[in-house]
Amino acid sequence: MALDIVIMAAGKGTRMKSDRPKVLHPLAGRSLLAHVLHTAGGVNADRIVVVTGHGADQVEATVSAPRLQFVRQMPQLGTGHAVQQAVPQLHDEGVTLILNGDTPLTEAATLRALVAACGGDKLALLTVTLGDATGYGRIVRSTSETGVSTVQAIVEHKDATPAQRLITEVYTGAMAAPTALLKRWLARLDNHNAQGEYYLTDVVAFAVADGVPVTAAQPRRASEVLGVNSPRQLAELERLYQRDQADALLDAGVRLADPARLDVRGSLHCGVDVAIDVNCVFEGAVSLGDRVQIGANCVLRNATIGDDVVIHPFTHIDGDTLGVTVGRGSLIGPYARLRPGAVLGAEVHIGNFVEVKNSTLADGAKANHLAYLGDATVGERVNFGAGSITANYDGARKHRTDIGADVHVGSNCVLVAPISIGAGATIGAGSTVGKQAPAGQLTVTRARQVSLPGWKRPVKPG
Ligand code: UD1
Ligand code: MG
Repeated sequence: MALDIVIMAAGKGTRMKSDRPKVLHPLAGRSLLAHVLHTAGGVNADRIVVVTGHGADQVEATVSAPRLQFVRQMPQLGTGHAVQQAVPQLHDEGVTLILNGDTPLTEAATLRALVAACGGDKLALLTVTLGDATGYGRIVRSTSETGVSTVQAIVEHKDATPAQRLITEVYTGAMAAPTALLKRWLARLDNHNAQGEYYLTDVVAFAVADGVPVTAAQPRRASEVLGVNSPRQLAELERLYQRDQADALLDAGVRLADPARLDVRGSLHCGVDVAIDVNCVFEGAVSLGDRVQIGANCVLRNATIGDDVVIHPFTHIDGDTLGVTVGRGSLIGPYARLRPGAVLGAEVHIGNFVEVKNSTLADGAKANHLAYLGDATVGERVNFGAGSITANYDGARKHRTDIGADVHVGSNCVLVAPISIGAGATIGAGSTVGKQAPAGQLTVTRARQVSLPGWKRPVKPG
């Protein structure tokens, strides 16, 4: 049985009070629409049609997925009108699953159950019972003499009678329908209602009139079907999503100092006995080895952290597209910054206010205070002194610095790249080194110290 998915994403989202199309607002670092597409990807559809309208160029340029196509709805005359635009793309012999682009937390299993409830010959609605159903389309049922309850219609809040407004079972915005029947029903829609719109929800009454059974399926949790219409709802959904991720980490054995103060905007993989203090943010793909400890207020993005690494508070690690790798047993921070292409071996120490970019540090290398290592290759056991830097940029191009094993760079040195420092060399404190420094020797470039006996400090006149 062919399965097509239609995602409605043409609405303006006026209540977001934003220039950005609503479905592009991010939740956990990904757009609302990207979440819906990700879930749709778990339903094994033959094609996914996204209906765009408001901000269509931007929406179409931003999201991608396999078997995805876009159709435009201009102007936006309602949800039924939105699905009408997708009709030419849909397989007559299959089932169509219709989703809202602003409902990011629905699980794929819920959608698969909805498609199964349709079974190719019924209209299946995803419904939920809410304490406060204000604003939602109500599920109107009738009960037969034998006590069987069947769905008769969906009535929009603005069109509902006072009695219908007391109904607490609501339509969530997701339905699955036999495509050929759906097309027939869509062709019959009109806009004679309180909002003057073509309501998708009117197809329910057409199904009933045609004698097609209407069934209702429910999500595992009501929160799965919450939509985003305002910044407040977006923030609420973000916290729900983050709490779920924190719970999954706790269940996997990760120690979180406070599950309410963790944000995972991507994927976080943790080994055994990992401990994470409060207010940490993980973005992109982050992997933490066994027994890793992360201090408070750290931000890690696209990074691989080895076993037994300790990351002290206020450390910022951003691998961007190149990634960052930290080797086993390293100590990082507090207040350290690892940038793209930082590759640290085992037992490396990076201390406070040290920045490392596009550099490889071999096992046991240390830069403990106030230093910059950019475009450098640093050998084993090198000690890079406080206040020392690699001057990698000449104003036009970046150049490399090569530091051999067991080099000791004193404090406040400038290594002007391109340059190499031979193994075992010592660079005297305060040196600016622009030429190759030989292995095993002391290289100092600062002026010799002189003391002038009898020298008098100038005095102010008068
Ligand atoms: C809709 C349902 C309502 C349900 C609720 C669940 C209809 C008529 N009503 O109401 O029964 O309880 O969702 O959240 O369907 N959209 C378009 N083009 C349009 C209008 C909307 O693409 O012309 C898109 C929006 O971008 C959004 C979705 O359709 O993703 C739902 O639209 P919205 O205006 O939020 O519908 P509701 O009034 O919430
Ligand atoms: Mg809505």
